[in-house]
Amino acid sequence: MAPFVEECNRNVKPSIGPSTVTLPRLLWCEALYYDASTTMSEAVRTMMRMDAEAAQESAAQTDAGFLWDFWYPAARSSEIRGQNLVTAMLLEVPLVLGRTSEGKVFAMRDSCPHRGIPLSYGRLDGKVVECCYHGWRFDACSGQCVEIPSLSSQDKLKVERIFAGHFPCEERDGYVWVYMNAPGTKLPETIPAVPALIVFSDKYKITHLSCELPSHVDQGIIGLMDPAHGPFVHQSWFWRKRGSIHEKAKQFEPIPNGFRMSPHSPSTNSAPYQLLKKITGEPVTTTIDFVLPNLRTEIDQSGKMWFSSRATVTPVRRDLCRIDFVAAWNLFFLPVWIFRMFGKVFLRQDQETMIQQAEGLKHNPRLMLIDDADRPAKWYFALKANLLESRRTGAPMVHPMDGPTTLRWRS
Ligand code: FES
Ligand SMILES: [Fe+2]
Repeated sequence: MAPFVEECNRNVKPSIGPSTVTLPRLLWCEALYYDASTTMSEAVRTMMRMDAEAAQESAAQTDAGFLWDFWYPAARSSEIRGQNLVTAMLLEVPLVLGRTSEGKVFAMRDSCPHRGIPLSYGRLDGKVVECCYHGWRFDACSGQCVEIPSLSSQDKLKVERIFAGHFPCEERDGYVWVYMNAPGTKLPETIPAVPALIVFSDKYKITHLSCELPSHVDQGIIGLMDPAHGPFVHQSWFWRKRGSIHEKAKQFEPIPNGFRMSPHSPSTNSAPYQLLKKITGEPVTTTIDFVLPNLRTEIDQSGKMWFSSRATVTPVRRDLCRIDFVAAWNLFFLPVWIFRMFGKVFLRQDQETMIQQAEGLKHNPRLMLIDDADRPAKWYFALKANLLESRRTGAPMVHPMDGPTTLRWRS
C-alpha cells in the first residue's frame, strides 16, 4: 500500500517521464551558443533537424493529458529551509526548489543545461545554484548562467545567453506554487494570481494534509467531485452510515472555468454540519466550487462561524497524482488535532479506494459515466476539452453548461 503522507514526499523519482535525447540536444546547444557566422557542419544541421522532428513526434505521442499554463502546488513552504535544495515533480517535469538568502522561493528544472545532471545534486549559496559536475553557476531566480569555470580568457561563449529551465514560483497558504508553462513555450506577459484560500476573519486555525494517489490526475479529480461514493467509501460513525443514503437534489451553476454547487444547506446525514447548526443556532450554508485545472473549494458558514477548505489534485506523473488539502476555520470548538484525525481517516478512505481502482485501470477497461451522479465528471472533461480547444483556436472558451441546472442522485 502506498504510504499516507502528511508532509509530501518530494523525492519521488519518476518511473516514467519525459525522455531526453542526449546527443541531438547537445549538438543543438552548441549550435545555439556559437555565433551564427560559425560554419555548421552538415552533420550538425541534420542532427538538429532530427532533434526538432523527434521532439515534435514525441510530444504528440506522449501527451499525458495535463493542463499546462496554470499554478500547481509543488511543496509545502516549511520544507524549503536554509540552503537546502529540494526536489519535486509536477506534470512529469523534475524540479529543484530552494529559497534565496532573501527568503524568496525559486523553482528550476532539475537538470543542468550542460550535461543534464540534476542541479539538486549541486549546492545553493543563497543566490546562485552551482552544478556539482563542472561547476556551472546559475542565478536561482532567473536560471541565467553567471559563470562557467572551465572557460579560458580565449573563449567567446556568451555565458549570459545560457539559461537553466526556471519557472515562476510563489508562496501562498503554506505552499510553494509553481506556474507550469507548456514545454517549449514562452511565459505569457501577465500570469494570473496564485489561487488563495478564502478566509472570513483575521484569526483562524489552519492545517494541511496531503496524500498520493497512484492514478492519472483525471481519475483523482473525478474521484474528488464524485457525490455517489460517500455512503460506501466514507462510512464512519462521525460522518455517515451506509443506511443513511437518501435522494438529493442540488442546484449547479456555471462559473468561469468551472461550476458551482449553489449555496445550500448541507446534507442532513452528515454529523459535523448538524453539530455546527446546533452550536450556532443558525442555518448552515455550503458552497462548493470546482475550477480548472484542479481546485475544489468548499465554504461552510453559519452565523459568524466559518469553515473554508481547498483540495487540489496535482499531476506528478501520468500515473501519480497528489491531493493537497488545506482547511481554515474559526470554529472555537474544533481543535486542529481533532480535525486532522478525522481528515486523515477521510483521505485514507479515498486513497485506499483509488489504489484498488488503479489495479483495475491497469488493464485499460471501458468506463462509463452515468447521469446525474457522474454529470460533474462529464463537465470536468468537457471544460478541459473546451479550454484546450479555445487555446488552440484563440476563440472564447465555450462553457459546457448553458445555465443553472439541478442534479439528482442518492447518497
Ligand atoms: S553538467 Fe552541469 S556543469 Fe556540466
Ligand atoms: Fe471521497
